Amino acid sequence: MSKVKSQYKCTNCNNILPKWSGQCSHCNSWDSIIEYTQELKIANFNKTKLNTPSGNIELSTLDQNTLKTPRIITTITEFDHLLGGGIVPGSVILIGGNPGIGKSTLILQILNSINNQEPVKTDELIDGKIPTKADDINRTYQKKQNINSIYFSGEESINQIKIRAKRLSITESNIQISTVTEVTHISSFLRENPEIKFVVIDSIQTTYVKELGNAPGSTNQLRNSTLEFTDLAKKHNITFILIGHVTKDGQIAGPKLIEHMVDTVLYFEEAKNSNYRILRAHKNRYGATNELAIFEMVESGLKEVNNPSEIFLQEYNENTTGTAIFPLIEGTRTILLELQSLVAKSYMASPRRTVVGWDQNRLAIILAVLNSRMRKSTTNYKESNSTNDFNQMEVYFSVAGGLKITEPAADLAACAALISAIQNKVITKKTIFFGEIGLSGEIRNVTNPESRLKEAKKLGFKIAVIPKLKKTVDINGIKTIHISHINELLDFINSAKTY
Ligand code: TYD
Ligand code: MG
Repeated sequence: MSKVKSQYKCTNCNNILPKWSGQCSHCNSWDSIIEYTQELKIANFNKTKLNTPSGNIELSTLDQNTLKTPRIITTITEFDHLLGGGIVPGSVILIGGNPGIGKSTLILQILNSINNQEPVKTDELIDGKIPTKADDINRTYQKKQNINSIYFSGEESINQIKIRAKRLSITESNIQISTVTEVTHISSFLRENPEIKFVVIDSIQTTYVKELGNAPGSTNQLRNSTLEFTDLAKKHNITFILIGHVTKDGQIAGPKLIEHMVDTVLYFEEAKNSNYRILRAHKNRYGATNELAIFEMVESGLKEVNNPSEIFLQEYNENTTGTAIFPLIEGTRTILLELQSLVAKSYMASPRRTVVGWDQNRLAIILAVLNSRMRKSTTNYKESNSTNDFNQMEVYFSVAGGLKITEPAADLAACAALISAIQNKVITKKTIFFGEIGLSGEIRNVTNPESRLKEAKKLGFKIAVIPKLKKTVDINGIKTIHISHINELLDFINSAKTY
């Protein structure tokens, strides 16, 4: 049996080659081919995993008693809310994001705060009363909880972490830190110290299984490290937070590879050119997806943003043309956003269309609908010396504040911004718009009109231009104008009536 045969292998994609070469023919990465004599060890590693005696399978029922585990509340309200009311013990959470976005900062803040609270009471959880509001959380968790936690940092030295902790004003803390990155070491340490129940791995791309022989961060290492951690989490009820860098080049495998192995996937997004950081749930086995948490990166760490609408409308000027306000629904929250557009005469055969924060194809559809379904002449056509024809125009469209919109409900507000821009007409003050637009120019219903109107009212908006609803929604203080076709939107913008 030729157990150790000399072969060549790509450390990036694990492709086996008969001879050495400078570039891998499979993944095209350079300098990643190594001589490969580890066949036997790999076989051993996998074998230990398959060593369960046959016939000895432990069976369980759907007994509700298993649910009686309290959630770990971090008291970082935005984070708890994002997870559906705190962290489920024994779950594996993946936090991904670009380098430098604030993952390690958030982790240190979480570790610091979980050492200061009491776990949520079981009965409250089962009754569905998961505390998500700051008040409820403070009322429920007053005593100290000391969840024994450990922070494995492969990215930074202990000193660097200490400097960050000082910046975050965490001076006295019993957070335990280690810079060990070898998975088998971490794993045996955790098995020997069963009191440790909360583990952070920063980052999953720096941990490695020695026996595999690949470089840390390769596909194989990433998968096997995660497999070992998820296994520990389920068997020993240890909560894991895995940090993963989103990388652009192929040298280090990205967190997408392990999304299917973990319980919850959160990604950090950066609102363009701002200090705001959006943490979005892409997958959550214990809560809603599409939920988001908004933080601001300040001198002393990540600060929660509880009133995003106010922040995103901070620089909104209601006297300019080409802007319209849209109440966006993200998970359970509503955020008022300013949609902006600029239209300018084009001298090119195919005029430029530039979109930030919205779908380019959606803009193309909306422009086509406006071009072919909207009345060409308007009441003030001569007066404003404008046209309704976008074909000769360059169109720039952006969502102020850097958030991304995927909801079709934004169509009507986008249309309003575009019409306001092309007609050079300021939209009636204190107005919001929402509704989906169909290809014949009709305005369609959208979900959750009530919460959109409520949020608008909270911020002092007075008029809402919306579709004809199946069920009337009456919010005191907001005048609703129901329209069924984009021509009615045109009339509304042109009338500039004071309501
Ligand atoms: P970090 O958490 O190290 O990012 P990641 O772990 O995702 O790579 O965040 C680093 C950035 O955050 C860095 O550019 C400095 C900034 N920062 C602040 O602005 N304030 C702070 O209090 C801290 C700790 C970091
Ligand atoms: Mg980091």
